[in-house]
Order: sequence, then structure tokens, then C-alpha cells
Amino acid sequence: MSESADPLDRLPAAYRSQVEQVLIPREAIAAKLDVLAAEIDRDYADRELLLVGVLKGAIFVVADLHRRLEVPSAVDFMAVSSYGSATTSSGVVRIMKDLDTEIEGRDVLVVEDIVDSGLTLDYLLKNLRSRRPASVEVLSLLTKPSRREVDLPIRYVGFEVPDVFVVGYGLDFAEHYRGLSDIVTLRPEAYGG
Ligand code: IMP
Repeated sequence: MSESADPLDRLPAAYRSQVEQVLIPREAIAAKLDVLAAEIDRDYADRELLLVGVLKGAIFVVADLHRRLEVPSAVDFMAVSSYGSATTSSGVVRIMKDLDTEIEGRDVLVVEDIVDSGLTLDYLLKNLRSRRPASVEVLSLLTKPSRREVDLPIRYVGFEVPDVFVVGYGLDFAEHYRGLSDIVTLRPEAYGG
């Protein structure tokens, strides 16, 4: 791609006019996952990992991380719904889909798309720890530290983002934009605002 190419040109035509800015291009995501996977391989050498993806936002992070890992790893998913408005969570969380597997005695890595207030993850970690895994760590592709309401140990962080609503690479607004390859911000009109 030449330097003058507009990053918006790579987005599907139907979504282009709603996107404000490409915040994290696909190449930067791929390069970051290379680094994180190498770190995980070092940290978990001679162990086996269970990746727990949090649906639906983490689907691409899980897929792209899983195929980069050299350590033996299995995948399971949980779906949680957090009560709140369209763009903020309340911390009241309901498990919509639980794990298929037992995690007692296993090394678990929770894979998240984004940690915002941290309330959803806080609930999830308490829930998972009560099942007595050997260890639980967290990888989140994105984090918004300025919005954090609870202090959480996130072992592997992809990118810190400012307090803006982002979509793409798994992240949605009203179920749209998940399939975008880049992480982008939306024009105010896209929220109906
Ligand atoms: P938290 O409980 O406030 O940390 O929110 C976590 C969940 O809210 C994430 O897993 C996302 O599903 C959603 N979320 C938070 N910020 C954003 C964003 O900027 N874009 C899309 N979804 C977000």
C-alpha cells in the first residue's frame, strides 16, 4: 500500500461512510498478536493452555491467537450479557453460555476483545476462580484504562485506547461492524447521534 492510500479505502463500501478513523490497522493487530503469542509460548512452556474466549467480541482474537501458539492449547467459549446501555456496561452480568469443559486444575487464559470499566471481566474472573483452575490469566486485545472502575490483573494487553467507542475486529455496535479487519471509530451519525 502506498503512503498516500486512504486507510478507509480498504473497508467494505457499505461501511466506509460510517467510519471516522482507522485507529488500529489490521497489520498492527497481526504484529501485536505475533508478539503476544511468543510471550505466551515462553510463559507456558511445557504446559497446556485452555483459551476461554468471551463471545462474541473475542472471536477473531481467539482464532488468530490460537493458530499462532506453539504450546498445546484448547479452546472453549463463554457468552455473557451485561446489562447496561448500548455503549456502557453495568457490571450486572448473566452467563448466556457456559463452558463445555471442566477447568479444575487447568491453566486458563481468558481472551477478551476489550476491557472497559472492567466490570464484566471482574465478574467472569470471580466465577472462573471459584471452579479452582490451576491458574487464570487474561489477555485483552484492547484496554481503556481511563474508564476502569475495578483494578484487574491483565497479563497480556494488545493496545491501550483512549475513551472512545471502537468497532471492528470482533467489536460491534448493535451487531454491526464486527467483521471489519481494522479497529475503527465511527462518525457520530453512525450511532444515530
Ligand atoms: P466492561 O464491563 O465495561 O469492561 O465492558 C466490557 C464489554 O463491553 C466488552 O467486552 C465489549 O463487549 C463492550 N465494550 C466496551 N467498550 C467497547 C467499545 O469501545 N466498543 C465495542 N464494545 C465495547
